[in-house]
Amino acid sequence: MLYDTHCHLNHPQFESDLDQVLARMRDAGVGRCLVAGYDSPSSLIAAELSSMHEDVYAAVGVHPHDADSFNEDIERSLLSLLEHPKVVAVGEIGLDFHYNYSLPKKQILALEAQLRIAQVTNKPVIFHCREAYEPLLEILECAAPIHGVMHCWVGDIDQARRALDMGLYLGFGGMVTFKNASEICDIAAMIPVDSLLLETDAPYLAPTPNRGKRNEPAYIRLVAEKVAAIKEMDMEEVMMRTWENGLTLFHRE
Ligand code: NI
Repeated sequence: MLYDTHCHLNHPQFESDLDQVLARMRDAGVGRCLVAGYDSPSSLIAAELSSMHEDVYAAVGVHPHDADSFNEDIERSLLSLLEHPKVVAVGEIGLDFHYNYSLPKKQILALEAQLRIAQVTNKPVIFHCREAYEPLLEILECAAPIHGVMHCWVGDIDQARRALDMGLYLGFGGMVTFKNASEICDIAAMIPVDSLLLETDAPYLAPTPNRGKRNEPAYIRLVAEKVAAIKEMDMEEVMMRTWENGLTLFHRE
């Protein structure tokens, strides 16, 4: 079984053919997927999708791109969505100082408010981070203990060690299949498989040979194959271990 621990089936790009996307996901042996919210409406859709499909779970949160919109009403709606039995995490939240679509100050406020939500609801967190590993790691080290995953890891090895020291998982997706991704692959090779989660981030970051096209959960198999090659492990073993990691983090199984 494979677990796509980070995808956006709540994205408008899946509106017209979601049933076929889910059918291909099941055919590819993907037993579960976790749909991450990125703003208030997409968080609601993630929760609704999890109600409609047995193998779909949801995370709710406001992405740093949308941190400017974060307010108390949204905070209340996230808290109420987190009562849903299949909403298993807060995310994706974090810091993105690459695009700075929201002011850094606002990003930090939204992050801290949502970390408090995770703490009061006792849920794991899915973190997004671009060009902000130092400030994000500092905030998390102060807020520890935190359960969660650094999704789409692109940090360096020292930063990876700090994340692992806090007990965080690192998520790897289609980028491991890209040319010029040797640093990401080195880190995937070095970290223990017990700290590793697989993800697609669909519709973004489709793995080679589908790079540039719409990504979907079925393609997680390509990520698993590449991670198995990097770690010199059996594909079956990688599938089983990362599946169990997903259950441990998000389902406490
Ligand atoms: Ni994402």
